[in-house]
Order: sequence, then C-alpha cells, then structure tokens
Amino acid sequence: MSQVRSRSRTEESNRPGAWQAWGMAVQINPSILSADFARLAEEAQAVEGADWLHVDVMDNHFVPNLTLGVPVVESLARATDTPLDCHLMIADPDRWAPQYVEAGAGSVTFHVEAAAAPVRLAREIRAKGARASMALKPATPIEPYEDLLPELDMLLIMTVEPGFGGQAFLDIMLPKIRRTRELISKHGLELWLQVDGGVSASTIERCAEAGADVFVAGSAVYGAADPAQAVRALRTQAQGATAHAAWACDH
Ligand code: DX5
Ligand code: ZN
Repeated sequence: MSQVRSRSRTEESNRPGAWQAWGMAVQINPSILSADFARLAEEAQAVEGADWLHVDVMDNHFVPNLTLGVPVVESLARATDTPLDCHLMIADPDRWAPQYVEAGAGSVTFHVEAAAAPVRLAREIRAKGARASMALKPATPIEPYEDLLPELDMLLIMTVEPGFGGQAFLDIMLPKIRRTRELISKHGLELWLQVDGGVSASTIERCAEAGADVFVAGSAVYGAADPAQAVRALRTQAQGATAHAAWACDH
C-alpha cells in the first residue's frame, strides 16, 4: 500500500539515464521553510515538477524555532498534488508522528535523537500508509542504527544543525553519507538517502557523489527568481554527478 502511494511522479517521468536502469532516481524536494508562509498554496505550485514538498515541522523544543503543525499540513495536502515529505524536528515524535500521516503526509521523518521507540514508530508510520524515515543530526553517527535500516524507507542525514534555513553546508558530513550508502548497498536495501541543509548548486554534486539520492533544498529553490527552474537545474546537476559516482556504477 505504501509503495503505490509513495511513488513520486518524477520517478515515472524522469528522462532515461544510467542511474535509472538500476532503479536510482534522483529526487528534488523543495523545502517550504524558505517559502512565503502566507502564500503556501501558491508557493507549492511554484515548484511544479518537484518530487516531494519538504515540510519542516519545528516545535521550539527539539530545535530553537517554531514553524507549523498538523492543521497546516492538512490544508497543504489539499492544496497540492505534490506529495508531502514531513520532517518532524519535534520532541516526542512517538506521540505526534502518526497524526502527520493522517493529515496526508506521504513520508514522515522523525529524529532518532527524539524518538523513544524508533522501531515501533517506523512500523506505525508504515502501517498507517506512509513512508517511514529517520533523521540524524550532524553529531549522531549512523553505525549504531545499522540493524534498524530495514525498518525504514528513507534515512535523512542532516548537513546543517537543524532549526533554520539558509545555513552553510557541513562538508564534514560527506563521510557519513558515504558510509551510509555503503551500509545500504551491503544490505541490498531500497532505502532512499536524503540530505537536508545547505544543499545548493555548489554542494549538490558532492552529496550525489557521496551517495545521496534525495535532495532537500530551501533557499536554493525559493531564493531563486524562478523556483521551478532551480529545481530542474539542481536535478540536472545531481543526475550528472550520480551517473559518474562510484557507488552508482558498482551496481
Ligand atoms: C533545517 C531544515 C531544512 C531547511 C533547509 O533545519 O530541516 O529543511 O529548510 O534550508 P536550506 O536549503 O536553505 O539550508
Ligand atoms: Zn528539513
């Protein structure tokens, strides 16, 4: 059930390429954190062609910033055909994450640092019909979570400290992206690897080369004169880098 619902339109309409022959589609997810919150429906439409709309939920506890919650996600889900990728930067996701599935999110990401029972939570998100995803802050290593990976549809590696858009990309996260891609390959998983924070024209290729295949971009998309064009340009860059990446050629 979650498989059908989660398939993004771009996966079906992407131009053919080497990565696609192996089932590796690049996905670009604009973050509405950098959009105009008073015009969310229009801002969602401004990135037609994006794979998912990345929705940052912040509670002023887990991160020092406050954004939006379940009612806004419900309205946004009605206002756009683009599936919603909800990134929960909140305390107690065990309690709140299922409500975001009910609100219409196609993918729900919780932070492992905040979850009391990540396996139970991932299973609950999947059982409710969404893709289950787990996020790691920059100081959280991937290695302790190797055995949890089969429970997940996506892993999010933060490439800035979560809380704000427009921060500088942390290059020191590239080895973690590489190691995570190796673990995904080692276990033969169909797990998407998302990067979030400071992803732009000048950093997206490094992320793709290291092994990411889902790219969140806030200021690089909504700060551009033409957000839809910025999505296309980022996709072209990521596809080019993926086609030449060692991790993608190994398959
Ligand atoms: C940061 C958020 C990101 C943010 C990224 O905590 O999780 O999704 O919107 O913004 P940029 O792309 O501007 O770094
Ligand atoms: Zn985010």
